[in-house]
Amino acid sequence: MTLPAQQAQHAGGDGAGNGAGESAPRHLLGVRGLPRETILPLLHAGGAALDTSTIPWRTRSSSALLGKRVATLFLEDSTRTRASFTLAARTQGADALDVSAAASSISKGESVTDTARVIASMGADALVVRSGSPGMPGVLARALAEVAPDCLVVNAGDGRHEHPTQALGDALVIANTLGREGFGFEGLRVLIVGDGRNSRVPRANSAFLRALCAEVVAIGPTLLAPASLENALGVRVSRDLDAELEQADVVMLLRIQRERGGGRLMGSVRDYRLGYALTGARAERLKPGAIVMHPGPVNRGVEIDPGVADAPRSMILHQVSAGVAARAGVLRAMLADDARAGHG
Ligand code: NCD
Repeated sequence: MTLPAQQAQHAGGDGAGNGAGESAPRHLLGVRGLPRETILPLLHAGGAALDTSTIPWRTRSSSALLGKRVATLFLEDSTRTRASFTLAARTQGADALDVSAAASSISKGESVTDTARVIASMGADALVVRSGSPGMPGVLARALAEVAPDCLVVNAGDGRHEHPTQALGDALVIANTLGREGFGFEGLRVLIVGDGRNSRVPRANSAFLRALCAEVVAIGPTLLAPASLENALGVRVSRDLDAELEQADVVMLLRIQRERGGGRLMGSVRDYRLGYALTGARAERLKPGAIVMHPGPVNRGVEIDPGVADAPRSMILHQVSAGVAARAGVLRAMLADDARAGHG
């Protein structure tokens, strides 16, 4: 499957540091602003890699990326995103190389851009970047433009800004569990509950979901789900989870982003839970087919009750499994020789 040059060129979404989308085409820096026809090839690539006939779901192996090198550079902690990019690369036959800030020369004062140049100079075909700084993947894409022009940058989460591959994996889960394999999400109502102000997940997911024609409602207290999200994300904002539950097809919980100040804004855990936790009692009011999602890491007993996180309607581990396939799809779409030929 190919990601046509024009589509990949635009794969910069909006805002923070995405100018690299123009100067360094083919990078995946964000998904906001991407039209449905750009998103669909990525979804189809992930969907083709995902095998839902087993438990847990698995990513189909291939040799499409034989001889390619995929490096991850993680400047913020991660379990599932980093491991799934590495695994995704390997399932498609690529060599994978992991670099984390704490165990690299960044701790000796080397700049992040110099570190990226070093990794790219080892022949990396793709650099997968996670950073606390919004726009860092775009900064690195620009930094590599001269020393390693063929090295593609993939955003694995940058501050509050974007998390494109989380959105891809989540869309695969919705498609497969709600019978929307063609990715037409018309008529689906998705509640995104919690720290929409500080989490990058709703920015990427709302863009995706809206492009696929789902209705998205951001829910939370004023400080965590400010009214400004309506314009920023193009979603409806609600303060009343209880009023929304029964119409929901998907309830997506967000962790309070304490590392980005969310803890100060949430008030007490007790008050937060009263208004916004998906408790067992609230989950009982969901429609029979409705699903519960959470990108993880989960703070059990804060935004979601343990019994709800482990219930059959919880897709939390399916999201992890689909994340591997989504990332395999992205890497194939961007790196496979037939895809690169498509870039002309
Ligand atoms: C999310 C992230 O890092 O943005 N985690 C993930 O990648 N699955 C969500 C979070 O940290 O709350």
